[in-house]
Amino acid sequence: MPTFVTGGTGLLGINLVRSLAESGEEVRVLVRKTSNRKWLEIPNVAFVVGDITDADSIRRAIDGCDKVYHVAGWVQITPWGRKIAEAVNLRGAENVARAALDAGVKRLVHVSSIAAVGHGPKDSPATEEMTWNFDTLHAPYYDTKRGGEERVLGMVREGLDAVVVNPGYIIGPYDVGPSSGQSILDVLTQRLPGCPSQGGIGFVDVREVVEGMRLAMEKGERGERYLLIGENLTYREYADLVAQEGGVAPLRRTLPYGLVWSVSSVLTAVGWMGYRKYGDVNLTLAKISFCDHYASSEKARTQLGLAQHPIQKAVADSIEWFEQNGYIERVDSGWRIPE
Ligand SMILES: NC(=O)c1ccc[n+]([C@@H]2O[C@H](COP(=O)([O-])OP(=O)(O)OC[C@H]3O[C@@H](n4cnc5c(N)ncnc54)[C@H](OP(=O)(O)O)[C@@H]3O)[C@@H](O)[C@H]2O)c1
Repeated sequence: MPTFVTGGTGLLGINLVRSLAESGEEVRVLVRKTSNRKWLEIPNVAFVVGDITDADSIRRAIDGCDKVYHVAGWVQITPWGRKIAEAVNLRGAENVARAALDAGVKRLVHVSSIAAVGHGPKDSPATEEMTWNFDTLHAPYYDTKRGGEERVLGMVREGLDAVVVNPGYIIGPYDVGPSSGQSILDVLTQRLPGCPSQGGIGFVDVREVVEGMRLAMEKGERGERYLLIGENLTYREYADLVAQEGGVAPLRRTLPYGLVWSVSSVLTAVGWMGYRKYGDVNLTLAKISFCDHYASSEKARTQLGLAQHPIQKAVADSIEWFEQNGYIERVDSGWRIPE
């Protein structure tokens, strides 16, 4: 029987689908009419058109599959977008889980996020057992990733066999969007004015996330959550690593919170008025960028046997993929975005 995958045309999904298909698994990928299938035109992959916000389309798409990976999501760190975040990350997740339950699939692996677990300092990183502490952030992505996994886990009590994975900040090749790899492009092309004076997150190689998802499908415990984190790095450590791998000078300036908060407040106010040309500079991102958002993958390592992949290789492979696919090009002074 085929395995059903949503979100197969994004960073994580492409890596997952290619891994499953290459190991001989038949994969049925949910695509929208507008999705780019380019990276999935390989043996063992078939497509079905649908949208996770349309419950009927998901019921039809899942029919005849025995395993489900729900990867699709709306991924933006902004104070706005709550309506679409709820439709995709919350009700969309519920639609997939409900369809999986009704179809009697063997198991659903639901992709949540480190955002749905919480934050902690390096010496006391977040774990699956902690109480969620992002409730005061009031950010659509955080609230709906948390709500989405709660709805999926709620259905476990109705008989659904589901396991949740909570990846950290994902880095690696096939970041077509780009999704989280935008930060790599920003550092290499000197688009960032500097680095936050504090704060960091748990980073993870996309191939480690795929491995964690496959292990969760195979031997995860029903109804459990597993954080998938490679290395906890400050944003300064991460930016220095990207600069080193890309052969450019490290970001010179260190940005104090007050300055970032002031600029972000103005641009957030302007954003709420509808002008979002600089919408990626906003208060939600400012708060997150100075947050110690570290987490531990101890549970996945001991219970699933998940191996650790160095972030340095994920960064290097990501840069190579971006260059090979025309997202950036080398110039004398470093890198630029091709015209
Ligand atoms: N990137 C990270 O650092 C990170 C960290 C933790 C968790 N996650 C989670 O991992 C998942 C994948 O993230 P990503 O970085 O790979 O994102 P991405 O590259 O932006 O890909 C998003 C995927 O979701 C699909 N999608 C979005 N809305 C949909 C809808 N209404 N119906 C069907 N498909 C829809 C997209 O399809 P189209 O191709 O048609 O747009 C695409 O395949 C998300 O659930 C995200 O919350 C990501």
